[in-house]
Amino acid sequence: MDTINIIGAGLAGLSAAVTLAENGVSSRLISSQPSERSQSVLAEGGINAALDLMGEQDSPALHFEDTMKGGVYLADPEAVRNLTENAPRIVRKLAALGVPFQTENGQMIQRYFGGQKKRRTAYAKTGTGKMLMTALTDYARKFEADGLIHRLHHHDFVKADIRDGILRGVYVRDRYTEETALHSGPAIACAGGLNGFFPGRTTGTTQNTGHVQAVLFSQGVRMANLEFIQYHPTTFGISGKRCLVSEAARGEGGRLCVLRGGEKWYFMEELYPELGNLMPRDVVSREMYRVVRRPDCGDQVFLDMTALDPSVWRTKLSDLREECMHYLRIDPASALLPVEPGIHYFMGGIDVDARHRTSLPGLYAAGECACQYHGANRLGGNSMLGAVFGGETAARDLLDGGFDGGCLSLSTGCLSPTSVSLSTGCLSPISAEKLSSFLCSALGILRTEEGIRQSLEGVGEMLRDEALTEDFRARLLLGEAMLRSASARRESRGAHTREDYPERDDRAFRKTTLAECRDGSVTISFRDLP
Ligand code: FUM
Repeated sequence: MDTINIIGAGLAGLSAAVTLAENGVSSRLISSQPSERSQSVLAEGGINAALDLMGEQDSPALHFEDTMKGGVYLADPEAVRNLTENAPRIVRKLAALGVPFQTENGQMIQRYFGGQKKRRTAYAKTGTGKMLMTALTDYARKFEADGLIHRLHHHDFVKADIRDGILRGVYVRDRYTEETALHSGPAIACAGGLNGFFPGRTTGTTQNTGHVQAVLFSQGVRMANLEFIQYHPTTFGISGKRCLVSEAARGEGGRLCVLRGGEKWYFMEELYPELGNLMPRDVVSREMYRVVRRPDCGDQVFLDMTALDPSVWRTKLSDLREECMHYLRIDPASALLPVEPGIHYFMGGIDVDARHRTSLPGLYAAGECACQYHGANRLGGNSMLGAVFGGETAARDLLDGGFDGGCLSLSTGCLSPTSVSLSTGCLSPISAEKLSSFLCSALGILRTEEGIRQSLEGVGEMLRDEALTEDFRARLLLGEAMLRSASARRESRGAHTREDYPERDDRAFRKTTLAECRDGSVTISFRDLP
């Protein structure tokens, strides 16, 4: 079998690489940064699996229900069923690989996370991503030594080699030598989220530029649900980015409040008595947005963690406390923490089916860059699960023959790396900021047709510039697709709230939004869910 090209060395990419290697198949792990610097390392709160360790009669079926409900019934049920059924196996495997999941009396324990009635989130304090990545990176080393995983750090994806409608390989540029090489064989895109479209406004690293998705989109790969952008309720700003205050803080008893008449008002608990502060993120962020605009309330929401037991701080949230003290000079054990919603996750991305195949034969996608498990709103703790399972699923499909057995044999197998020159160029920070401000002003927590229209006009004007590089044109087209997707969905669902269409409309819009780019123009359509 050909060597498989994996674009991205975070959780999804590593998971795909080790799954292939366990079965004797080699891969190239192509990434601009080494695994140790991927976004996955920053993931905090935990990974969901219905292990039922807390005596609450949890089950994969309940995990499935919560995930579907949290995503407001827009996720692919078959894919979510596979995900939730495999979650216990995945978490046990990660534990066996050495992830130091939190234990009590020698037994793994789990915590509450948003949108879930059971304690289902396995965790390592609030550094779960770092621990998962450490274990998987370590595991991958054995296969590197065996020659089954070849790392190409400091290499950027340039574009896909598509011939006769099939992906034959990928062009990749070495950042040091600036040489571009063509690597034949199928590919799995594991490029993370679209953070680079929102510099300074996301909790994610802007090293996840969205370049891979933009280029693939401009090459005809279909995207889905691009309008669904998750705002995490509890973030604070530092220079150049939003810092995440993990949902674990609320899972361990932190409470959101606002000052009303000089008194703390725990608004989420009053508005949503059942799940309170742990309602799904779309609901919490929307309520935060609204409460600070009420005339009888102050203009700042706080996270109140002052009543947490000292043992919780010591054993479960010590790293979060350190971060608050370091960046804000606030000790959350004794003072209220000012928080506000910030962009955290992209539910939409490359359209994939339950096997993680994209619309382009030969290309798979997994992890945050793929649109799959999360529908209109992702539950906390499901992203690392989706990344590990997604990478594994794509790899397994390749091992089973891939794309009906066609794609592997169709690759030429004889293309050795060669030097080619392709027209790209550096991203101008001014243009990037301009695009970002158009996207942000239209794609906030609340949206209107007028806001979206104005941004579409702005992006349209940028697209008319004839001096654009191929790369930047691709970014603008993907930005346009996000805006057009938001415009086309004339309802409110999950993370997409339209002030002009405040109701959910299942009849017209319980559908996947599809975006396609043909000859430089973007079209939006809707596909029924299974
Ligand atoms: O709040 C958090 O720790 C985030 C977790 C997630 O997005 O899954």
